[in-house]
Amino acid sequence: MAIVYDEAEKVFLLNTQNTTYAIAITDETFLCHLYYGKKIQDSHIRYLLKEDESPYVPSVNKRETNSFLDMFPMEYPETGMGDYRESAFCVRNVEGHRASQCGYRHHVIKNGKPEISGLPATFASDEECSTLYLYCEDEVLQLQLCLMYSVFEKEDIITRSVTAENYGKQPLYIEKILSACLDVEDRNFEWVSLHGTWARERHIQAMPIAVGRQNVASFKGESSHQEHPFIALATKGATQDVGEIYAMHFVYSGNFLAQIEKNAFHMLRMTMGIHPEGFTWKLEPGGCFATPEVVMTYSAEGYGKMTHNLHELYRRHLIRSAYLHKDRPILINNWEATYFEFDEKKLLDIAKQAARLGIEMFVLDDGWFGKRNKDDSSLGDWNVNLEKIPGGLHKLSQELKALGLKFGIWMEPEMISPDSELYRKHPDWAIQIPGRDITQSRAQYVLDLSRQEIVDYVYEQIAKILHSAEISYLKWDMNRQLTTIGSMGLVADRQGELFHRYVLGVYQLQERLIREFPDLLLENCSGGGARFDPGMLYYSPQIWCSDDTDAIERLAIQEGTAMLYPLSCIGAHVSVCPNHAVGRVTPLETRGHVAMAGTFGYELDVTKLSEEEKEEIHKQIVCYHRYKELIREGDYIRLLSMQKGDRADAWMVVDKLKNRALVWCVRGLNIPNDKGFFLRLKGLDVESKYHIDEKQYSADVLMNCGIRIKPADKDFVSNIFYLERQTK
Ligand code: GLA
Repeated sequence: MAIVYDEAEKVFLLNTQNTTYAIAITDETFLCHLYYGKKIQDSHIRYLLKEDESPYVPSVNKRETNSFLDMFPMEYPETGMGDYRESAFCVRNVEGHRASQCGYRHHVIKNGKPEISGLPATFASDEECSTLYLYCEDEVLQLQLCLMYSVFEKEDIITRSVTAENYGKQPLYIEKILSACLDVEDRNFEWVSLHGTWARERHIQAMPIAVGRQNVASFKGESSHQEHPFIALATKGATQDVGEIYAMHFVYSGNFLAQIEKNAFHMLRMTMGIHPEGFTWKLEPGGCFATPEVVMTYSAEGYGKMTHNLHELYRRHLIRSAYLHKDRPILINNWEATYFEFDEKKLLDIAKQAARLGIEMFVLDDGWFGKRNKDDSSLGDWNVNLEKIPGGLHKLSQELKALGLKFGIWMEPEMISPDSELYRKHPDWAIQIPGRDITQSRAQYVLDLSRQEIVDYVYEQIAKILHSAEISYLKWDMNRQLTTIGSMGLVADRQGELFHRYVLGVYQLQERLIREFPDLLLENCSGGGARFDPGMLYYSPQIWCSDDTDAIERLAIQEGTAMLYPLSCIGAHVSVCPNHAVGRVTPLETRGHVAMAGTFGYELDVTKLSEEEKEEIHKQIVCYHRYKELIREGDYIRLLSMQKGDRADAWMVVDKLKNRALVWCVRGLNIPNDKGFFLRLKGLDVESKYHIDEKQYSADVLMNCGIRIKPADKDFVSNIFYLERQTK
């Protein structure tokens, strides 16, 4: 049984294959966290609460409530009653008071996984998951909280979310409602997060934990380039295979807070949820608010197991697209090839050459609409620019079809240029504060998607374009953060809802889109990878990883991304050299190898290739077809990491039956006087032998002695090895 309630002990055990999460109810009706870690069978663990340690227990000595709360591991701590660590919940009533204490009232255990209305969330059948609902109440406020825990046994995952319901007669104002809190005694942990900026997303960072609060966060209205809605506690020096990891990942695409707090008693509190800054939600009588979901996992076997758990969860229980298990067409995108300077002829020249090389889809990026010849106009005016494409999109799609190519298109539906017909007609549609200049970013404003009429209008524009031609793919971009946070459609005491309502508007748009166009391949994007998060994966099976397409820069970016997300989600293209972002020259072969660890494609002017380059691209395409299923479906294993000090980056994918594997090894450029090394593999069947090229090796040899990586010279930067198990 995944969820067990021991009535006598008043203890819940939430069991997955390898882990247990335990919650207890105290005499005071507090819900408290007892344990999270390796699986335990016995629910006699109340001693962990130290209830005999008077005077710290309120039922024994009520006058010492404060000191009790300093230490007590509240399952969902609230503001204003004496727990001075980070709270998960803060509500203000009409009198202006901010304090609540919701006591346990009853619980329900059900098979299956509830949806969260309007929000992306993991899903599962009744056999795959069960859910615990803990109902708590504050009678003074007439407020009910429901803490939900869904247990995915097979994946070693627990997801958490919370609902707040006002059953009183006065409105309540929620000022903070996080999705999860976890108190853990410090066992010499460090904390891990992902950070970066434009063109340098999701580098891994591990830091010592200081007393006090340390967090990553976004206030930008999207999950952001800079910090990622992920946080982990890890045994200091944990490796891919060794060490304990507690991880939280947020299924949300807006502002977030992910925090570790250490107090004077070596207690760690890990919290995650919508960032309270700039957030207030008015809860009318009878109203209910649901938080987005936090995905939580524990690994006793290092980062590798954490990665595996998340990959399995996302592939089985989050990504809905029909493309999840389908081949994605190898695409060519014209952005780095032409930027805004193209006409139909130029596009078709690229397309013809692409088709000859074996590329399967042509994606028309920015600049095809309005009078957009650079990035300073026309967002919102989704009419094809007939000067550039005289025959319109339909004719273009047919010409591409005749070449054997599918057609994809770029849009940035959430935006409005000050220089656009749409803005001239509806200046109030931009997010703005009356009397203030709206901050421009990339010369554009953001549409106020908290307003239903704007969401409806935007949806019609997207649908109109998609109906106007044979379009198989949409790259949905979002190229700026939110500022000057005000809505012309919200009353004063609801302005604090704008950030969250905006995200709900985005989700509504994408939900409608995938329902009306179920065969559309949707790729999300945000100035590269600023909205690469589990929330967006619920709508699109792949997300553009970064505007930095340099193969060497991509190593750290893709490593951090693949630590959490399957390779099949990671948008990766081969581009021209010197690279547009960093000016580096990398062998075309290596650019191909790195892009193959994602949704493979091209983004360069293929009409300018030498014969040798054409041959190499042709080779890459043949190679990708051979391995694409393995890359998409296989288990990903990280072998070496240059950002963690290793001499190369290396990773592999192994199919579930351990019959086939693909290994990548990429070195830094220009290594002087190199002598090569041996790369030890993982995840193979120890009893078996594997072929690499014509040679045969025992799995134990490959995993303990390693495969030979030859010395780097100027032509050699990377290798991929294909392994096939020898059949008896
Ligand atoms: C963003 C995207 C790019 C490209 C441009 C177009 O930066 O990340 O891939 O689509 O917009 O303006």
